[in-house]
Amino acid sequence: MLVELNFPLQAHNSFGIVAKAFQLVRVQSEADVQAVIADPALCDLPKLVLGGGSNMVLTGDVKPLVLKVELRGMRLVEETNKAWVVEAAAGENWHDVVRWTLGNGWPGLENMALIPGCVGASPVQNIGAYGVELQDRFDSLDAIDLTTGHTFSLNAAQCAFGYRDSVFKHESSGPNGLGLAGKALITRVRFSLRKDWKPVLGYLDLERKMTETGISQPTAMQIFDWVCAIRKAKLPDPAIIGNAGSFFKNPTVTQDQCDDIIAREPKVVHYVLDDGRIKLAAGWLIDACGWKGKTVGNAGVYEKQALVLVNKGGRDNPCTGGEVMTLAKAIQTSVYERFGIRLEPEPVVV
Ligand code: EPU
Repeated sequence: MLVELNFPLQAHNSFGIVAKAFQLVRVQSEADVQAVIADPALCDLPKLVLGGGSNMVLTGDVKPLVLKVELRGMRLVEETNKAWVVEAAAGENWHDVVRWTLGNGWPGLENMALIPGCVGASPVQNIGAYGVELQDRFDSLDAIDLTTGHTFSLNAAQCAFGYRDSVFKHESSGPNGLGLAGKALITRVRFSLRKDWKPVLGYLDLERKMTETGISQPTAMQIFDWVCAIRKAKLPDPAIIGNAGSFFKNPTVTQDQCDDIIAREPKVVHYVLDDGRIKLAAGWLIDACGWKGKTVGNAGVYEKQALVLVNKGGRDNPCTGGEVMTLAKAIQTSVYERFGIRLEPEPVVV
């Protein structure tokens, strides 16, 4: 096992923020994690698991030991009458896995095409897009306990998935008695892709594509192409403009709170959830406060989608994590003052 010192992280976080890891170990096998845990100088250090770095704001050099997940491999685990169960290692690029499954004729992940990041991060925040969340296709995962080195598996219930949430985001005990933030490294994720696949097309942007193309019964591959096109039109490509996707979660409010806001702001974009609560479009709230295109230093609000904060300085003159967080706080304050709603950031702030 090699401990790399002062490892530059700019190419390993999708904002392109400059920071270094004081100590970093590449995880290319489970044995690499076991070696860290068996090492008296490393075992007790706080640890940060780094995948694609696509949901992270680095506000300084990273003191915890960084475990950089480079586990590779994808395979079909099982085919039953009902489903294909496929497995991908945590270090695989998410979009490559989506493409690989579709290329093999296994539909189900197409609505989540082009989400940046690695497979290992996908259950952590229960990624989702265009009407499908990871939990809808999830079978199980394997992970290593970073204190004991023991491997364990979790099913969907044990992951306690919620909207952009799971047991891996909580430090204290969750509803099922687990809280695994910083305590485990996910090694493999399995997906159950059902043979009775039906397209998920309820999302407005996809309905528009159906009208434009005249295709009412698209294949999974067509949906994949549509989602790629929609995302490319709306969201900045992190390889060109650094960003961490949606910076805030879409907040939920009660019907009463929503009625109160509608009385003042009739155009507020909102959706009724299954439990009767209302989800508000955070992008709309931020946009309504006039934030599109505004900047703090080299951090800015994306002109085409106010929910995304971007690095305006590129690789050569990048924003700092401090600038991103100052901008985020100013947005939170103005949305709170105007709507009485507290926006919660989505990325992990390190
Ligand atoms: N809107 C505005 N102004 C803006 C941005 C949005 O008025 O500047 C309005 C839009 O017109 C639309 C509504 O707000 O009516 C929602 O916007 P959009 O459809 O773009 O989706 P979103 O709520 O902003 C969510 C996810 C995205 C996911 C898309 C598509 C969250 C926090 N974000 O965005 O996920 O790709 O839906 O399903 O749930 C991510 O998590 O990083 C991410 C990109």
